[in-house]
Amino acid sequence: MQKIGFIGWRGMVGSVLLERMCTEGDFAHIAEPVFFSTSNAGGKAPDIGRDLPALRDAYDITALAQLDGIVSCQGGEYTRVVCSRLREAGWNGYWIDAASSLRMQDDAVIVLDPVNREVIDRAIDAGQKRFIGGNCTVSLMLMALGGLFKAELVEWVSAMTYQAASGAGARNMRELIAQMGTIRDGVATKLANPASAILEIDRKVVTDMRSTEFPTEAFGAPLAGSLLPWIDTRMGNGQSREEWKAQVEANKILQTASPVPVDGTCVRIGAMRCHSQAFTVKLNKDLPLAEIERILSSANDWVCVVPNDPEATLAALTPTAVTGKLTIPVGRLRKLHMGPEYLNAFTVGDQLLWGAAEPLRRILLILLG
Ligand code: HSE
Repeated sequence: MQKIGFIGWRGMVGSVLLERMCTEGDFAHIAEPVFFSTSNAGGKAPDIGRDLPALRDAYDITALAQLDGIVSCQGGEYTRVVCSRLREAGWNGYWIDAASSLRMQDDAVIVLDPVNREVIDRAIDAGQKRFIGGNCTVSLMLMALGGLFKAELVEWVSAMTYQAASGAGARNMRELIAQMGTIRDGVATKLANPASAILEIDRKVVTDMRSTEFPTEAFGAPLAGSLLPWIDTRMGNGQSREEWKAQVEANKILQTASPVPVDGTCVRIGAMRCHSQAFTVKLNKDLPLAEIERILSSANDWVCVVPNDPEATLAALTPTAVTGKLTIPVGRLRKLHMGPEYLNAFTVGDQLLWGAAEPLRRILLILLG
């Protein structure tokens, strides 16, 4: 693994990946990084603190085929097209990406090494070449609940999600802010007057949100001041694709002998880049809460248990608190009235870090040895 190509490094996930790699000094392990572009071949490569050749054409199969490994954040369509052309050209290097196009294929491993390092190591030993980051919600769930899964304590999980705008893309993050601004601007005068009637303000807000002028091109509906209980396409069985991914990807990541059911409703909310999830976990035995907390918090270096009290929860278990951090807080831990095997839990995670970039930079380091 000497020559590694990077594609899609200018987009949102790619930029976070590059920033993390520079912060952690990852490029010191790569003899020859080569940067590609789908639109600016010949342009200047990014500043990673060393001299780099000009950008290469991301569709130049001959150039790509000279690489030992490719890291792509360019998206599913690029993966679909280029991966098969490379295969036809006889290329046998490592393909690392975050798109869903290859994830469920038999020859692809979904990577989340703090949770499935053994699966990754077995795949490398077996000569597998495709290492794909999981769906952000699934990765964040497993970073939070990994201890319970590893100890085979989970009978099933219901995951109700509160997903940030970033999961839908950079354009959507901008639109969320534009929506917030439009709402505020429409009532600015009334808001400045403490004597104005709140119901009047509310009427104006909803009138603006329902107006055809309200910016909804990216989301297709108002998100600010509202929520969107459908993410991704329909599966035909009442589930959204995002909901479908939870069970299939979680079980593939863990390589469970028999599938653990995971299901729930995926909801887009007006957070910027942290996905939150409320879990009902059906345990297969009644364990004391202190033991559950110990199992959860010892599962990896990033998960941390937040005490189930209002002060700690509001200080540490919100998108505002977690944005830009690698920590995976899990809190609101308590047994539910349904019975002693029913656990309530809530987690928040930065979907651009553990949900996207971090598993990719880590699998690259693993493959680089
Ligand atoms: N599908 C996720 C979302 C993005 O829409 O939030 C990360 O996999």
